Amino acid sequence: MSKNILITGGAGFIGSHVVRLFVQKYPDYQIYNLDALTYAGNLANLTDIEQASNYTFVKGDITDATFLEQLFAQTAFDGVIHLAAESHVDRSITDPMAFVLTNVVGTVNLLNAAKNSWKGAFEGKRFYHVSTDEVYGSLHNPEDFFTEETPYDPQSPYSASKAASDHFVRAYGNTYGLPIVLSNCSNNYGPNHFPEKLIPLMIHNIQNNKPLPVYGKGENVRDWLYVIDHARAIDTIFHDGKNGETYNIGGFNEWKNIDLVHLLCQIMDRKLGRPEGTSVQLITYVTDRAGHDLRYAIDAHKIMRELGWEPSLQFAEGLEKTVDWFLANQEWMDNVTSGHYQQYYQDMYANR
Ligand code: NAD
Ligand code: DAU
Repeated sequence: MSKNILITGGAGFIGSHVVRLFVQKYPDYQIYNLDALTYAGNLANLTDIEQASNYTFVKGDITDATFLEQLFAQTAFDGVIHLAAESHVDRSITDPMAFVLTNVVGTVNLLNAAKNSWKGAFEGKRFYHVSTDEVYGSLHNPEDFFTEETPYDPQSPYSASKAASDHFVRAYGNTYGLPIVLSNCSNNYGPNHFPEKLIPLMIHNIQNNKPLPVYGKGENVRDWLYVIDHARAIDTIFHDGKNGETYNIGGFNEWKNIDLVHLLCQIMDRKLGRPEGTSVQLITYVTDRAGHDLRYAIDAHKIMRELGWEPSLQFAEGLEKTVDWFLANQEWMDNVTSGHYQQYYQDMYANR
């Protein structure tokens, strides 16, 4: 069945994989990618599908309510998949207001645009909000996992802004009957990951013999999922999830940061033909992230049980594929590492 689907943040890391999946899998859908092209948005992530007849890029900012109202007046969207966000915890510590504007105000603008254009005729409509496991806070008991019932306890300005946006989405479902669905996912990794985040930063720095900055003692634990498995989960939830429900997404794949960095060093030594043990010497312990959450771990049983989704890739395979992608796409990395990103990290290192 033909549908107009608006995907926000489609030029970013996860959004680009979601856009590609939908454009290729659903030739009857018209996919509109709305993105402001901030530092994290990169149309080079989508060159392989940019000519597709069912794909349209729209440059625009979700903080601009008037622009959104006009966009929804021009095109009758059947569904919204909302990924546009400020996504990096460290940036939220230095500039929280950018997170309030895009993640909170931008999400409410989008909810209003959908509500006003659908005018209560919600049959066949869906507003899907893509969120994070960070809204649940930090786990301290090794037995515990985040479930869909875990109370919200956001600890960083980033997670507070995502938690606020989640609450607004649920409030619009409850108050106006907007057909909403949400998901909260663990840490993603894979191709096109912006190299301010741990895995691509380490790959880049190992390759260039630069220090590998490990925050604190490297004891913090993250739960990693291959980005294409997240995109597959989003497809499943968008089509089969129940209105008003929340689904946690994760791969039961916890790693201490320091162990993950060691593993990346091993893989990179092998791929670059360096003697084993070369790259670990680049590890540099640096000042910890302020308010650094100790551990995230997702219980993904609900989506597995109710919607039949499961991760397709083991971590070892996903990490090999990721490293191979970065080594084969040097031009992508060179383009990204010039400019704002470099300046940001020069400032950050200077302050340590
Ligand atoms: P990203 O930073 O790579 O991409 C964000 C995209 O949003 C960029 O293309 C950017 O240009 C766009 N954008 C930012 N502000 C905008 C605005 N005001 N208007 C329009 N577009 C704007 O982020 P990501 O890592 O791909 O994350 C995507 C979504 O998934 C976010 O909502 C994030 O909270 C969530 N999420 C991310 C992860 C992860 O591990 N990266 C895990 C769980 C959930
Ligand atoms: O859990 C989902 C979240 O995962 C998403 O909502 C966020 O958008 C995404 O950025 C990610 O947040 P993290 O803060 O967990 O990811 P990051 O890659 O920034 O850091 C991963 C871990 O590595 C974290 O414990 C901090 C640590 N770290 C990070 C960097 C960039 C380092 O030790 N050194 C670094 O240089």
